[in-house]
Amino acid sequence: MEMKTTAPGSRVVPAGDAALAAATDALAAGEIVAIPTETVYGLAADATNGEAVARIFAAKQRPSFNPLICHVTGIGMAETFASFDPMSRKLAEAFWPGALTLVLPLKPDHAIHPLVTAGLDTVAVRAPRGFGAELIAALGRPLAAPSANRSGKISATSAQAVTDSLGDAVPLVIDGGPTPVGVESTIVKVEDGAVFLLRPGGVAVEEIEAVAGVQLLRAKANAAIQAPGMLASHYAPSARMRLNASHVDPGEALLAFGPERVTGASDAKAVLVLSESGDLVEAAAKLFDYMGRLDATGAACIAVEPIPMTGLGEAINDRLARAAAPREKQ
Ligand code: TXA
Ligand code: MG
Repeated sequence: MEMKTTAPGSRVVPAGDAALAAATDALAAGEIVAIPTETVYGLAADATNGEAVARIFAAKQRPSFNPLICHVTGIGMAETFASFDPMSRKLAEAFWPGALTLVLPLKPDHAIHPLVTAGLDTVAVRAPRGFGAELIAALGRPLAAPSANRSGKISATSAQAVTDSLGDAVPLVIDGGPTPVGVESTIVKVEDGAVFLLRPGGVAVEEIEAVAGVQLLRAKANAAIQAPGMLASHYAPSARMRLNASHVDPGEALLAFGPERVTGASDAKAVLVLSESGDLVEAAAKLFDYMGRLDATGAACIAVEPIPMTGLGEAINDRLARAAAPREKQ
């Protein structure tokens, strides 16, 4: 197998059988892999593995946990975790595999990790062409993958652009040559038969309208679905959240971090530790689950121990701040 080392610890392998085997093994072991898709390069992880998904955010240095696109082999795999209304099904049948992403409601008891959806009850799904499609089929599970670039930088359309942007933060990069489409997928969401355009992209609006038989609506009219990550209320538990707590009041639940507990922890209604060892990747993977579990105890307030702002800590603190923000009435 031919290999080029472009940065310490980062392997670039040309797309092919050996790359497929290496990428499948890495993903099955919970690693992240940069892969070519027809739109742009994606930074992929097993969508059912929280720590693997957390590694995506760490590598991209995302300051917040935006929801990611779930990549599937087709409608069959998508239906294991999301439901299709008739219009979404029609669009998937027309454009998959391809550069169209559909935002769909999650099914109950789905296996997608909440870090992928940022805790939303919807999931963005698309079926890519080429190496990505073969890889998902080989792994047998959906892949969460945002564009393979540093957060806030332009999307990578070549393996070189991936390593230039992410350096050795990604252990394995599959080189499939320049991506044919070159811009990200078009994202739409169907609501009661109306099709909202959330992001223009690789499939033209006119092409979608020709299949849908209706005009696309611009999402500006519906800010709630345009930028779900920006809405505090989507993440807010019923309990109040008290951040950077230096003590726990009796009856409060405690979301803890690191080896030591704050004063009063033994009187807390419940304590869940995001990571005993202070590992921010582990903490990110557990965040949404533990917030939900502490909320379910019925505690009126969840005290949260300080979490450092380094690495994924920034994204964790961003999400906690949204959960703690004054609630908007919708
Ligand atoms: O072509 C593409 O779409 C590439 C390749 C790798 O597939 N991926 C990509 O992912 O551009 P990313 O993470 O850079 O952009 C995903 C977009 C974000 O704008 C996010 O807000 C939106 O999808 N999104 C994800 N889940 C959503 C949801 N449940 N509702 C609304 N928007 C969602
Ligand atoms: Mg992106």
